[in-house]
Parts: sequence; C-alpha cells; structure tokens
Amino acid sequence: MDIQNLGYALTQVAHNFGASAVVGGAVASLWLAPRPELDRSLAWLVCVGWAAQIASGAAFGAISFYYFGKFPDLGSLAIAALAIKVACAASGFSLAALYLLRAASWTAALRRRIWHILAGLSATALTAAAFLRWFS
Ligand code: HEM
Repeated sequence: MDIQNLGYALTQVAHNFGASAVVGGAVASLWLAPRPELDRSLAWLVCVGWAAQIASGAAFGAISFYYFGKFPDLGSLAIAALAIKVACAASGFSLAALYLLRAASWTAALRRRIWHILAGLSATALTAAAFLRWFS
C-alpha cells in the first residue's frame, strides 16, 4: 500500500468529518428551537470540528512537504480560496471557543447572531474548498 496516499486519505477522512461538524452543528442550532443545553453540545461539536479542519488542513501541507520537499504550486485563485478557508477556520474556532466560555451570560439574540456567523463561516469555507480543489 502506498503510505503517502494512505496519509492523504486518512487526513481527508478527518477533514471531511470536520467539515460535516462545522456545517451541520451550526445549521442544527439555527434549525431547532433555541435550547441552551443543546446549544452547548453543538458548540463543542463545532469547536472541535474547526480544530479538526485546522489540524487536518495543516497535515495536508505537511504530507506534501515531507514527500516533495515543498508545498504544492498553487495559482492565485487557489491561494485566495485557501486563504479564505484559513481565515474562516481561525474565526470559526475562536468564535466557537468564545461561545463555550461566555454564552451563558449572553442574550438569546446575541447567541443566535453568533450561530448565524458560524453557519456563514462554514458555508463560505465549504464553497472555497470547491475552488481550491478545482483551481489547484
Ligand atoms: C486551516 C484551514 C484549512 C486548510 C489549510 C485546508 C486545506 C485543504 C487542502 C490542502 C485540501 C486538499 C485540496 C485538494 O484536494 O486539492 C482540502 C480539501 C478540502 N477541504 Fe479544506 N482546509 C481548511 C479548512 C477547511 C474547512 C473549514 C472546510 C469546510 C468547512 C474544508 C473543506 C474541505 C473539503 C470538503 C475538501 C475536499 C475537496 C474535494 O476534494 O473536493 N476545509 N482542504
């Protein structure tokens, strides 16, 4: 078995489940009637999901660097898509962590606004992923 491909495939497994968690967790929170106790579990799911995206995204780069001694050559559109993903992941992780730390003292309206932002960030990153895939 090709170890390099195995590395990419296992990284992709984590990356795919992370993407499902950040999109699904935020959409579920908005879709269901507001329930603070459920929202906290969903915030954990989303926070861990963003962390998984950052770790597995870095792992993609690390595997390429290990095998080729350099990062893949990307065109300007692919670089822009990657930058959007990184910005979304950093913001999404920070917001979800803040939610876990502070949401208990927030109004219901503010909590819902944060979930909207988290859903928007996840949808933006998922859209950017398609451009990174086909323009790299
Ligand atoms: C630090 C942030 C991230 C980095 C560095 C990163 C990096 C990467 C890389 C290098 C690939 C492989 C590209 C290719 O196949 O040509 C990839 C694929 C993918 N990423 Fe990310 N990513 C990040 C965040 C995200 C986020 C937040 C999402 C979704 C919410 C996401 C969704 C995807 C999907 C769905 C694919 C597979 C695309 C396909 O093969 O069709 N990524 N990512």
